[in-house]
Amino acid sequence: MLKIKNIGKNFGGVKAVDDLSFNVDKGEIVGLIGPNGSGKSTTINLICGVFPVDFGNISVNEQNISSLPTHERVASGISRTFQNIRLFKDLSVWQNIWVALQQDSDQSSGWMREWFGNSKLQKEKIKEILVFSGLGDRFDDLAGNLSFGEQRRLELARAIASKPKLILLDEPAAGMNSDEVADLRQRILDLKKLGLTVLLVEHVMELVMNVVDRIVVLNFGKKIAEGSPENIQNNKDVQKAYLGGA
Ligand SMILES: Nc1ncnc2c1ncn2[C@@H]1O[C@H](COP(=O)(O)OP(=O)(O)OP(=O)(O)O)[C@@H](O)[C@H]1O
Ligand SMILES: [Mg+2]
Repeated sequence: MLKIKNIGKNFGGVKAVDDLSFNVDKGEIVGLIGPNGSGKSTTINLICGVFPVDFGNISVNEQNISSLPTHERVASGISRTFQNIRLFKDLSVWQNIWVALQQDSDQSSGWMREWFGNSKLQKEKIKEILVFSGLGDRFDDLAGNLSFGEQRRLELARAIASKPKLILLDEPAAGMNSDEVADLRQRILDLKKLGLTVLLVEHVMELVMNVVDRIVVLNFGKKIAEGSPENIQNNKDVQKAYLGGA
């Protein structure tokens, strides 16, 4: 469903992403790994349209999205989480989801009408998403008062609120203890069960190796390997560039 073809992005003299190609099939969980600064977040930003590709093509379900603005990419079914938690800490848990839902609705209909017309419906929908995300009992709490693991869950809840087909996760396990990682693993598998397609950027190999179907490895913006978790763990180039210390 996601096809990345020969994309590149330079920042000044740095080739952050360098002639990168890979595909993610519908319903698949693909891991994108590599050392710090190897271009993983940049790849996610290029898919979401945070900035345009310098060259190459990105398509989703055969539609070339390379030059679409971010909101049109969201409308076409792409959603993401961020490497650093980005919540509205002074808003409640449900309001954080509500804000995300507004971004995805038709701007021309006007958010006031949307809100007053459908507030009950929206609250029901938000409740459903929060229960699914393990935050059903945190509905009215301030986002800033959630534990670290719960804040990560809220980010994930917000990302699925727009009913995406493809979800891009940028280091969702960063800073988690192993119980939280195990919970996250199950949540990612639940997304797969719902039929979502997942691209997972992650350094926590305990998660990557136990949840993905396939792995793409970057080094200096280039793909150096692609294959099954087992395959990648035994790959000499990957061991040298990245997994060596582990
Ligand atoms: N907006 C930007 N402006 C300038 N340089 C950038 C920008 N974003 C990324 N870079 C540079 O591009 C390279 C790739 O960065 P990127 O953030 O994609 O790496 P990463 O693989 O996500 O690393 P990490 O594992 O540390 O998150 C780095 O050299 C980084 O400094
Ligand atoms: Mg990154």
